[in-house]
Amino acid sequence: MKIIYRLLNLSSRWMVLFFMLIAGITAAQVNPYQYTINKVANGTKGAVSSAHPLASEVGLSILKKGGNAFDASIATQFALAVVYPGAGNIGGGGFLVAYTNMGKAISIDYREKAPGSASRDMYLDKDGNPLLNLSQNGHLASGVPGTVAGLYASHKYGKLPFAALVQPAIELAYKGFSITAAEARSLNGSKAAFIKYNTMTPAFVKANPWKAGDTLVQKDLAATLTRIRDNGMKGFYEGETARLVVEEMKRGGGKISLDDLKNYSAAERVPIIFDYKGHTVIGMPMPSSGGLLMQQMMKMIEDRDIASMGFHSPEAVQLMIEVERRAYADRAEYMGDQDFVKVPVKRLSSEGYLKERMNDFVPGKATPSDVVKPGRANPESDETTHLSVADQYGNVVSVTTTLNGGYGSKTVVGGAGFLLNNEMDDFSVKPGVPNMFGAVGKEANAIAPGKRMLSSMTPTVVLKNKKPWLVVGTPGGTTIPTSVFQTLVNIIDFKQTSTDAVNNPKFHHQWLPDQVMVENDFPKTVQSSLEKMGYAITNRGQIGRTEVIKLEWKGKKLFSIESVADKRGDDHASAY
Ligand code: GLY
Repeated sequence: MKIIYRLLNLSSRWMVLFFMLIAGITAAQVNPYQYTINKVANGTKGAVSSAHPLASEVGLSILKKGGNAFDASIATQFALAVVYPGAGNIGGGGFLVAYTNMGKAISIDYREKAPGSASRDMYLDKDGNPLLNLSQNGHLASGVPGTVAGLYASHKYGKLPFAALVQPAIELAYKGFSITAAEARSLNGSKAAFIKYNTMTPAFVKANPWKAGDTLVQKDLAATLTRIRDNGMKGFYEGETARLVVEEMKRGGGKISLDDLKNYSAAERVPIIFDYKGHTVIGMPMPSSGGLLMQQMMKMIEDRDIASMGFHSPEAVQLMIEVERRAYADRAEYMGDQDFVKVPVKRLSSEGYLKERMNDFVPGKATPSDVVKPGRANPESDETTHLSVADQYGNVVSVTTTLNGGYGSKTVVGGAGFLLNNEMDDFSVKPGVPNMFGAVGKEANAIAPGKRMLSSMTPTVVLKNKKPWLVVGTPGGTTIPTSVFQTLVNIIDFKQTSTDAVNNPKFHHQWLPDQVMVENDFPKTVQSSLEKMGYAITNRGQIGRTEVIKLEWKGKKLFSIESVADKRGDDHASAY
């Protein structure tokens, strides 16, 4: 299809109209003013599961018109940037893990970078005290956005023209869409912050409170998306959009420069791949800790018969808490951007090392975190969002993307209509000082110009019999790897349906603080058993919003696809 456009040498604007005529793709297939939320959908040809019904349905419409899973994931992400402004984004960053029908495992890193003028102690006052408000809110909190570069990089694997994948988002932004009750609550809750951290009033602020069914129109965002549609990456990283970003930085004391934007590039990385009980798990490498943490946690339980302990038995939960504790201690010490620091990945993932890590595990007794130091390795709101996609050709794509906190820095680029991230807070602003997720870090994750901040995002693909089987991921800050870990163990070891694996209550331990966070509906009996073993338990409301796609194969033929969306939000599963 791409070749036809090149041969016809059509300008991209006309190309989109031409495309719509011959392929019939219009966003009108998705009614933005009237839609329902599905938690499970079944099909045989394709599926999308994401945080918003309109975004999932945009992705599905791309699949129905012959696009592949990469095309659908790009269109879904652009749509999320409009309909789910709290986390869907073009002003943030993310990671993609995919497995193609040619048997190739792919990971693309489009994590934000520290601006060129950033410095190690930029969030410390003259006495060395952390200034967390600056790393978490407003202009100075933003890293150089990576999302548009990442979508462009993943388009190399797509089939349809890039412009056609942006178009549905333009229409949603320009004409508006009905917001959900959850979005209304969330926008109302952030109104004061939007007023405080913006130099020009954004579309998210209105005199009267938002309510479910109100129409959110984002004309400036539509114009930015149109520049991206017509000029590709340059429509974001150069020209008018870049100029507006830098003007915004000047008005609000931020650091992102024209050069920072022009020099940003996404990077294709070698994915983390490991075996768990005969399944192949494909995960994201540094600068996300997600893939390595998953490998550490799964390998530390692999030789124990967790299935016979029983789902949510105190024994099984305790074992999982203790492997989470040990993996996160290593995260704090060793993990960071491998373009800048040597991360001892080989050692941290070796079977011998992981066995040794469990030497001091005592069943029935909490190991205090001040005893569990990071292992010895030679020097070498939590608003994020996830989407899972599968197509009829056998490609699967798993993407987690974020602004970091809900609505990121709360700063909207004046005249360009998109929110900037507050991802600088994912660096360790000072050794031992917890970030907004309570996570601590050291030298490996210190700020440096052009460096990417450590992430927890864990887009994951699992193969069974060499065929894609599960496409999984979730938001949730540092709880992301533990949620994906528990979802996979629920399916593989406890033989749960995808729906149960996603919706069953989760728990989380991240070494420091030394406490187990549990969801509201976590069983009270298990909680009191854990307290008797010496664990401090805190309530965390809800953990994650996991999206799972499960594929069944009959030999080499794709037999069925199940798409499941988390009960915890507006998440929506689509399939056909
Ligand atoms: N901002 C959340 C993460 O990247 O882990």
